[in-house]
Amino acid sequence: MVYLGISFLALQTWVPSYLCGMSTSAFAAVFRYGNAQDTILAAPYLDTAADRVVWDARLDVSQLDAPRLSWISLTSSLLQLSLLFVATMIAVSAAIPLDALQRVTIALWILGVFLTSIFLIALNSKKDPTEATDAIKAYFKFFYACFVKPHTGDGTGSQQDALESFYKAQAEVYDSTRSRLLHGRKDMLGLVAAQLEHRIKAGLINNKPVWVDIGGGTGHNIEQMSAFLSVPEFFKAVYVVDLSPSLCEMARKRFERLGWSNVKVICQDARAFRLHKHEQEALQRKEVVLKGQTVRDLDENADVGGAELVTMSYALSMIPEFYPVIDSISSLISPNAVIGVCDFYVQNQVDYQSRNYTGGVIDRHCMWISRVFWRTWFEIDRVNLEAARRDYLEYRFGTILGINARNHFFGVRLPYYIWIGCSKDSGASTTRLAEIDAAATESPYLSALDLQTGPTPRDVGLHSKAYESAIVNLQSSLPLPATWYQNHHWRIHHDESLPKHVRFNNKYIYAFTWEDSRADARILRVRPDDVVLAITSAGDNILSFALEKPRRIHAVDLNPSQNHLLELKVAAFTALGYSDVWKLFGEGKHEYFRDILINKLSPHMSSLAFQFWLQNGASSFTKSGLYYSGGSGHALHLVGWLFKVLGLSEEVKKLCEAQTLNEQREVWQQSIRRVLHSRILTWAVIGNEKWLWKALGVPPAQRNIIEQDYIHQDNASKIGVIGSGQAIYEYVLNTFEPVVNTTLMSDDNHYYLLCLQGKYSRKSHPEYLTPKAHIKLSRPDAFDGLRIHTDEISEVITRMRPGTLTIVVVMDSMDWFPPNGQHAVRQIRALNRAMKLKGRVLLRSAGLKPWYIEKFQELGFTTKRVAARLPGTCIDRVNMYASTWICTKDVSLEPEQVKEGLRKASYSSLEQLKI
Ligand SMILES: C[S@@+](CC[C@H](N)C(=O)[O-])C[C@H]1O[C@@H](n2cnc3c(N)ncnc32)[C@H](O)[C@@H]1O
Repeated sequence: MVYLGISFLALQTWVPSYLCGMSTSAFAAVFRYGNAQDTILAAPYLDTAADRVVWDARLDVSQLDAPRLSWISLTSSLLQLSLLFVATMIAVSAAIPLDALQRVTIALWILGVFLTSIFLIALNSKKDPTEATDAIKAYFKFFYACFVKPHTGDGTGSQQDALESFYKAQAEVYDSTRSRLLHGRKDMLGLVAAQLEHRIKAGLINNKPVWVDIGGGTGHNIEQMSAFLSVPEFFKAVYVVDLSPSLCEMARKRFERLGWSNVKVICQDARAFRLHKHEQEALQRKEVVLKGQTVRDLDENADVGGAELVTMSYALSMIPEFYPVIDSISSLISPNAVIGVCDFYVQNQVDYQSRNYTGGVIDRHCMWISRVFWRTWFEIDRVNLEAARRDYLEYRFGTILGINARNHFFGVRLPYYIWIGCSKDSGASTTRLAEIDAAATESPYLSALDLQTGPTPRDVGLHSKAYESAIVNLQSSLPLPATWYQNHHWRIHHDESLPKHVRFNNKYIYAFTWEDSRADARILRVRPDDVVLAITSAGDNILSFALEKPRRIHAVDLNPSQNHLLELKVAAFTALGYSDVWKLFGEGKHEYFRDILINKLSPHMSSLAFQFWLQNGASSFTKSGLYYSGGSGHALHLVGWLFKVLGLSEEVKKLCEAQTLNEQREVWQQSIRRVLHSRILTWAVIGNEKWLWKALGVPPAQRNIIEQDYIHQDNASKIGVIGSGQAIYEYVLNTFEPVVNTTLMSDDNHYYLLCLQGKYSRKSHPEYLTPKAHIKLSRPDAFDGLRIHTDEISEVITRMRPGTLTIVVVMDSMDWFPPNGQHAVRQIRALNRAMKLKGRVLLRSAGLKPWYIEKFQELGFTTKRVAARLPGTCIDRVNMYASTWICTKDVSLEPEQVKEGLRKASYSSLEQLKI
């Protein structure tokens, strides 16, 4: 491949230059810039070493006459086709041993099929033959204008002249030929529309918005926006700014046809566009500012706001001097405005790997061949893919959402991005300061409400990691991490590049929570002044806590994807009606997942969660369903497959549909139980204990706890003879049998119903999926107290204000600590410090009395086993654990260190920083 690539580049420049009798560098210049005249015009914008070669070649090229220029352009296009042909031939000859004529014939056929399929794919949406003929004509025009046509400008050498030369011949076919090439424009419009609607609803934008589409071309985007908003009614005014007169003419015709009188087409260089020259209100604001201004701005003519929406689709890469255009956006926008950009790009990860403000880097890195090829290829048409454009945008503004995607364009993957941003200092800065300072008190980023009461003696000099990263960014004049620019402050910033997060491979393990929320509620009896910290898992129990409305809920998970799942649920309650929420999390399927993600959920998610769901959501929600995804999804698949192989599928269906406990027990006893207890199966499972431990996701320390309990039972003598698989097999049977005998799946035990059928039913589902819960959870303030941390529990609690947590739910996570290490002791100490006196830790264990209970007792807690699963009994609807414990903090280990004045110190250091 490398050899072919090098030959390709060398041949491309040398052969035709030889044919035309000109220097290689001159031909390279012509090739890169499409034709010689353009090369000369582009010269002032050249900045790389390769560009300088072109610059040096300009005199050579300028000597050429028009027929020679056409000849060179045509040669370069034909050469590309012939090189494609040669490459095909080489590939054919390598694969099939044939004589020369046969190889040529096959290669010609392949090339023919390739080119025909390109056109067929391009035309496949055209059913009408005249439409298809028109489309063929359009694509030929497009091909001619992009790759063959010589420069026919007026010789002024301006960018407008160059653009016009390029667009004039294809203005009429522009829209039809760009639909496949310029991907992501509709998604970008959907995202900005959703942001605008949210801002209007939240009272952040109080007037009819003004929209400026920079490099708007034929006004295609404006018409497309009507899929999301009514353009004539929603916007006060829309400005399409473009430098190409031919495209502007097309845009004018479009809006005349549509009768949209609020859309104005301005044929101007984007660098020079000023809103106050067109908008009365923007002008008045400008005059007020000018009057009060003692020291004049360098840019006297700069706007002082006025646009609530600024978009650029595939224009930034075409504007040679992009810095002033990006700079001008910051004065063009109103304080709560939204910016949307969509464009091609290529970038190497070394550029951005240390940045924390890009909003996630899923799929951002492009391979070397992609970087080299696309940059060179697009330069032919003066489209610049260098990374600086996107980087500068991200540096000048706050990132709300960022997406990296690939356009599967005629079989190749063409990278493009969508970026949604806002002013760097968007939002009230006092609130921001409060939020940042609050991060130093109760817990990361938390107590803006508490702050209003002023400093308290309990404040200590603790800072969240999110706060620390924000301070570092502010000191370096960088934008804050993307989480700070979200519409909600649920998710707390974390460094997604840390190995402890990366090791989860961007996948969640649990698609549903496997702890009985009703048992938790009964044991804990949450009160309005409680401050709860709980493991996120799939977020189901966090939603159950949210229904009880404690003062604060800290959801903690080390796996970022588990928190993405919680964010999706919270966003769904915030933005969707009951039927959509039911489809997503009741049935686990939604045919329009992608659309609702972009159009409804996006304003309520962090950039990382949004990227994650854009990449993974459609496949989960439109194929097998949410509950068959993630690690737990493999288990569900396995269960389904096992019952199928054992011929029990029908019986399982009956079990799920049984209307009485008797009926359920009967199905279980007569068929399923018998097979599960069969000798072959027990042997197969027990004989593969390693597999069994893995399949059930049981870590070694927890396995030891199960084995210890088994040894203490009567039949312990067997251990060692047939291996510890027996212990877990017994454990599993002790889990299932009582559940089947005492809880009705079709009505009350949705935990097992889900495992057997992959979805909930209208009768049997978690409480958060009831219509009543939807009313509660879709209230605007339902999640005000929620904070989602991506870290270890110990990391989060050591950064919390001492004596603040009243309830901590650690699930069975303490079982995972090795008994001989210090991990458990360290965590219990940290819990003691972070918890209020009489605060309670709820934990479950695979053991009846796990070893660390004594450690709790030694470290200031009284412990009580509130449920124990003895053989044949059921402790809750999941019944997966052997015991449930409440550890209550009775003694503080260390006197709380009160450092008054630290808050003041943090205020003063912050005062010097501008967001
Ligand atoms: C690839 S087209 C995209 C057009 C449109 N935004 C779309 O998505 O279909 C790039 C547009 O940027 C415009 N453009 C390039 N440089 C410009 C400049 N300096 N000022 C204004 N428009 C410019 C071109 O005229 C062209 O219409």
